[in-house]
Amino acid sequence: MSVKFDEKSRVFFMETQNTEYQIKINEIGMVLHTYYGKSVGCCDMGYLIKEIDRGFSGNPYEYRNKRGISSDTLPQEYSTDGAGDYRISAVSVSLANGSRTLDLRYKGHEITTGRTNPEGLPYVREQEDKVDTLRLVLEDKVAGLEVTLSYQVFEAKDIISRFAVIKNGSGEAVFLNKAASACMDITGRDLDFIHFHGRHAMERLPERSRVGHEIHRIASKRGTSSHHNNPFVILCDKNTDEWHGDSYGVMLMYSGEHAEEIERDQAGTVRVVTGINDEHFCWKLEDGEEFVTPEAILAYTDKGLSELSFLFHRIIRDNVCPKEFRNVKRPVLINNWEGTYFDFDDEKITGIIDSAKEAGCEMFVLDDGWFGKRDDDHAGLGDWVVNRQKLKNGIEQLADHTDSLGMKFGLWFEPEMVNEDSDLFRKHPEWALSDPDRKPVMGRDQLVLDMSRNEVVDYLYESMSEILKSAKISYIKWDFNRSLSNVFSGKYPVDRQGEVSHRFVLGTYSLMERLREAFPDIMIEGCSGGGGRFDAGILFYSPQIWCSDNTEAINRLRIQKGTSYGYPVSTMGSHVSASPNHQTGREVPLMTRAIVAMAGTFGYELDPRQFSDEEKAMVREQIDTFNRHYDLIQRGRYYRLSDDEDEKYYTSWGFVSEDKEEALLNLVVTDMRANPEIIYVRMNGLDPAGIYVVDDVISSYDKASKPENAFFSGAALMNAGYAFDPLFGSYPSIQIHFRKTV
Ligand code: DGJ
Repeated sequence: MSVKFDEKSRVFFMETQNTEYQIKINEIGMVLHTYYGKSVGCCDMGYLIKEIDRGFSGNPYEYRNKRGISSDTLPQEYSTDGAGDYRISAVSVSLANGSRTLDLRYKGHEITTGRTNPEGLPYVREQEDKVDTLRLVLEDKVAGLEVTLSYQVFEAKDIISRFAVIKNGSGEAVFLNKAASACMDITGRDLDFIHFHGRHAMERLPERSRVGHEIHRIASKRGTSSHHNNPFVILCDKNTDEWHGDSYGVMLMYSGEHAEEIERDQAGTVRVVTGINDEHFCWKLEDGEEFVTPEAILAYTDKGLSELSFLFHRIIRDNVCPKEFRNVKRPVLINNWEGTYFDFDDEKITGIIDSAKEAGCEMFVLDDGWFGKRDDDHAGLGDWVVNRQKLKNGIEQLADHTDSLGMKFGLWFEPEMVNEDSDLFRKHPEWALSDPDRKPVMGRDQLVLDMSRNEVVDYLYESMSEILKSAKISYIKWDFNRSLSNVFSGKYPVDRQGEVSHRFVLGTYSLMERLREAFPDIMIEGCSGGGGRFDAGILFYSPQIWCSDNTEAINRLRIQKGTSYGYPVSTMGSHVSASPNHQTGREVPLMTRAIVAMAGTFGYELDPRQFSDEEKAMVREQIDTFNRHYDLIQRGRYYRLSDDEDEKYYTSWGFVSEDKEEALLNLVVTDMRANPEIIYVRMNGLDPAGIYVVDDVISSYDKASKPENAFFSGAALMNAGYAFDPLFGSYPSIQIHFRKTV
């Protein structure tokens, strides 16, 4: 059993292969976080807590004469408001009598094998793993509230996930003002934190700062997890780098408004709290009702950031993404968006499909514009019926044609949106989120449907199912192209409007779940104007997400690298698009565009009818290369091999198979120089005693060749690095495949 309780010391031990998490219950039932880190052999780490009398840090009544004990200074497992802890709260309530105090104490616990899933929310699936669960029940007898902290221990995966269930037994309604998923107090470390900020078309850029005494708040109040702040943070020692050092990862499995708050307190303890953003949140909990928070995923390692990323990659790939697509080779797709935008008809699309087939593509995806009166982005959203003006023969005929060529067919939807100029809006204006008596804020000239209404979810389920049943469709691209505003639902009374934003997310999840159940073989690719909803919540329903609307390879290097800290390559939708690029105007060689897109799900997004014969041959070679290395790229370990300083000149990354038998080293020169410095890249994850030989090279530079009979020990490649011959040209790139010989 990976969870134990020692009655004498009142300590809970949760053990994974390399880590340990400890919680201690003190004499008066305060639930204290005593340790999370490298395994320490289940020795009671309660000694880390020093009971020091600090002025203005009050004491529980029982300890009024023992001033070292204060909820303001002791590390807490789930911090509350109003009862003497002045640091960030995990939970905050308004009771029926107006009191806002919550003082949670230990009530009991249950340790079981297997896990209970939070209803209606994504979670880390058990799959074939052995999972043990600790359910720790806390109560406030005066308030009549009970909080169950549920910890799932994935022993072999070095992962602990947790969520909370808050139950009202007070006899009256209460309001939850905040209900976080996890709170963790880390003692004795001067930590940095890394978070992933960005904007539309430039998502998830890492930013590393020192944890100071101010409250750092990383949050989204856009209705989605957002392009701007991803619900994932890393806390690490100052010297932690890719190869060495301690780090903690905290990832929220949630696609709505979230907040990650970090604070270093007066005693030097660092607190991190993650959960639903409380700014718009206020949930009325009637007597007897429960509120379930989203689940958070926690990981720790002392082996550097690459290892931390690997822990998240593995759990997301194996235990979060839908199992149907886990070990299945996904097709190399071609998407028509940047090739045609809204300007297409049957003939053009058929031409694109035929040319894509000749170039070796395996799936065609018809993007925005096939439905309603959708000739531009001002009309049609909500009307999920084929636009016969453009597609006279309908979707069925196109899908059949694609199928007859041995390719799969995919289709774009933007389910949660509606245009004012649509039949749906004309019939049901009340289905759009909007304040009474006020003109709504528009985004891309569209409104957002009220997903908190079951009738809206039913309508979407029915209309999407109709289309999905009508043709051979293997894939859905699920888009979402604006942030929420005017979050008001006509369905809920005044005192429940603070629930709408979360209910919206629950509505989306229920639609995804219903469609997945009805069409288990159809793969969903998440998307929100690129990567505006790139989170572990969406990944529970869709194994890949369109990483960014920015398809320009050199910008993509940064976006994909930032994304890779938390999310595996197999989840990152990445396409080769036309040059000059439509977002930046930059020209990048076709091979470099492909090498960058291969660090993702790989596909094309352009008009293949424009390919010259030479380009078509090159694309065929690229698809062959990707397919040859598919398992290595999609299931191997991914390593970031260049740091901020290197990246002024070049970017490098690599893949190593789990058995260390093969590796793929990639390099893109981003700032070409005359008479260049030699680029040495230290690889990672190889077998140090293994002897590797180069057996395959692709490059944008036609003079780059495969070094013959060049043998390298894994240790040499990792310690001294691979020494690249100079490349030439604009944004040149090379991909080198190594195979272990002995
Ligand atoms: C935003 C997406 O990210 C694009 O790829 C494309 O699907 C457009 N929406 C279509 O409107």
